[in-house]
Amino acid sequence: MDPLLAWRDEFPILSHTTYMISHSLGAMPRRVEDHLRSFTTTWATRGIRAWEEGWWDMPVTVGNLIGTIIGAGEGEVVMQQNVSICQWVVTSCFDWSGPRNKLVTDGLNFPSNDYIYHGLERQGARVVSAPSSDGMTLPVETVLDLIDEQTALVSVSHVAFRSSYLQDLRAITEKAHSVGAMIVADLYQSAGTVPIDVRALNVDFATGGSVKWLCGGPGAGFLYVRRDLWDTLRPSAIGWMAHEEPFAFEGGPVRYARDAFRFLNGTPNVPAMYSARGGYEIINEIGVPAIREKSVRQTQRLIALADDAGLRVNTPRDAARRGGVVILDVANGKDVARELARREISVDYRPGAGIRVAPHFYTTDDEVEHTVNEIASIVHAAVTSTS
Ligand SMILES: Cc1ncc(COP(=O)(O)O)c(C=O)c1O
Repeated sequence: MDPLLAWRDEFPILSHTTYMISHSLGAMPRRVEDHLRSFTTTWATRGIRAWEEGWWDMPVTVGNLIGTIIGAGEGEVVMQQNVSICQWVVTSCFDWSGPRNKLVTDGLNFPSNDYIYHGLERQGARVVSAPSSDGMTLPVETVLDLIDEQTALVSVSHVAFRSSYLQDLRAITEKAHSVGAMIVADLYQSAGTVPIDVRALNVDFATGGSVKWLCGGPGAGFLYVRRDLWDTLRPSAIGWMAHEEPFAFEGGPVRYARDAFRFLNGTPNVPAMYSARGGYEIINEIGVPAIREKSVRQTQRLIALADDAGLRVNTPRDAARRGGVVILDVANGKDVARELARREISVDYRPGAGIRVAPHFYTTDDEVEHTVNEIASIVHAAVTSTS
């Protein structure tokens, strides 16, 4: 008996949907309704006092629940609204007009990150992308070879959104540091499904969000910054919360807060942090190692079933190089995904990759089998009708 299945009752959607899409939107925990009610009750009954009774500190107190998932210390993670904002904050810590102006980005990075990096070219940044020859994998040497004395920042997706390729963060961090560069790791597709310890890896920055494996819903991104760098970093993408004395309402240049508040901007997304807490609590309670163990077993099974059914697998077969998703590259993938939705199986389709299928800790082995069988039956029926 799989002990993680005891969590199924906590996720209402599982009673009527085969939910294989936690890489895109994790299922909502039942307790989120209570947490959101607690937000409205607090607002209704405490009014303005709610700020000093918890709301103001939520970017850090909620961030602490992420900290225990990714290996950060107390007070080292701040909540933002999404990864795009986190990446703006990180890149705003650098002077792109000087001789050390190179930004190395991995070729499997999420597009918003690249959009932000190329925007920095106006300020003098030289953006160099490490190419993936097959659109699925990115051998670590390809990234390492681009990192040199002119590099200010290296940006790596820990797990690629398109192929689930799991990158070697340790090797990249060591190389970046050996030439005096910093690294930002995007953990969106790993936090909550692949164990990660940002302090042990010594990454300088990490970003991520709540929508996917953390089952926290939209509007709550997170930013980790290495504590010993705080004093030296002067982000320009900030707001009044980043000031040492925000309620002094001083104009002029900012006097930075001495803690991780210096990476914040304006009024935080309070309701999103209430809802996100529900998912974080559950992931903390289960522990990522147990989630990963099950994920490796079920993704392995999914690949074996796909092979048996003659479906093309577009994901690394080595579990050590694979995140929590298996991508199946079938003809007319978009239509197949639509037909699966009609059959109450939630997956998604990404152009250039295929159908993304993701079991999570609440998935049964029968659901894994059912999903592959249904994909195979749709694909084979289409082949038969056109031949
Ligand atoms: C790896 C990765 N990074 C970033 C994002 C985008 O994050 P946000 O919408 O929070 O900016 C995604 C969303 O799918 C993602 O998969």
